[in-house]
Amino acid sequence: MLIFHTNPKPWHGHPYIYAPTNNTQTFFSSSMPKIENSLNEEEEGKQSKHYSSAGKIKRLVLTQEGRTKLNAYPDREFYAYPRFVTHVDDAFISTLTNLYREKLRPEWEILDLMSSWVSHLPKEVTYKSVVGHGLNAQELVKNPRLDYFFVKDLNQDQQLQLETCSLDAVICTVSVQYLQQPEKVFAEVFRVLRPGGMLIVSFSNRLFYEKAISTWREGTAYSRVQLVVQYFQCVEGFTQPETIRKLPAPAPAGAPEDKSPLSWIMRLLGLLSGGSDPFYAVIAYKNFKPIYE
Ligand SMILES: C[S@@+](CC[C@H](N)C(=O)[O-])C[C@H]1O[C@@H](n2cnc3c(N)ncnc32)[C@H](O)[C@@H]1O
Repeated sequence: MLIFHTNPKPWHGHPYIYAPTNNTQTFFSSSMPKIENSLNEEEEGKQSKHYSSAGKIKRLVLTQEGRTKLNAYPDREFYAYPRFVTHVDDAFISTLTNLYREKLRPEWEILDLMSSWVSHLPKEVTYKSVVGHGLNAQELVKNPRLDYFFVKDLNQDQQLQLETCSLDAVICTVSVQYLQQPEKVFAEVFRVLRPGGMLIVSFSNRLFYEKAISTWREGTAYSRVQLVVQYFQCVEGFTQPETIRKLPAPAPAGAPEDKSPLSWIMRLLGLLSGGSDPFYAVIAYKNFKPIYE
């Protein structure tokens, strides 16, 4: 895992302390705030007793087959080159930014999981802090919303090097379809959220087809929403997920249908929606109430 501060921009010549881990490399910026455990041992013991089943994976959602990708090369290779594009259209982004405007509070500490050079957060709001995560450091360093970021392949290792109960919200935009171990990632998100904290997962029908898991590729719009709902439900302690759907208006009656082969292929791959990109979001909160076994 790589951790960088973006402010000041660290891309070249910033001092890092190198700390090797088992199979990934970790770089800490020397100016990064030290992570402190705010609980003493006794308090920690009490808390883990009260939350003993919270955050546990109750059951796996995906089969082994369902986790497979057509392109089985390491994801880091696929994301090695920066893509300074937006992966969804303006209507989708506007809906998402409005959702963030409604749900996220300025005093919050937020993680943008599977981020890039954009976070789609409302420009007029300054949050207490925004941490970014992704696979391409060149994209992340250009993201003006991030206070710092880390690079980590979540299909190799799902652990987030973030303190337990340290964040108010985690956002994950148009990326959940690439997770091969979503149950473990959602459980980790649960761990790092404060009680009452929320996870907002949004997606459309666009995807890097070869990099999406087979269950997603073979699914429908309806089944994909249900799949993300189940990712939440498989972790003990999330509230019942809320789903939001905003679908493009149907083509006006009598409008000519595009029956060209290209249009047919695009529809098959989910790249053409006949209007603006459909918007889906699934949201749940980390329960306030301790869960007793
Ligand atoms: C379609 S982009 C979306 C980026 C950003 N959330 C946005 O809204 O523009 C998918 C993102 O998922 C992240 N990603 C894909 N596979 C990943 C993996 N195995 N581990 C961590 N992140 C991954 C990449 O960093 C990539 O930027």
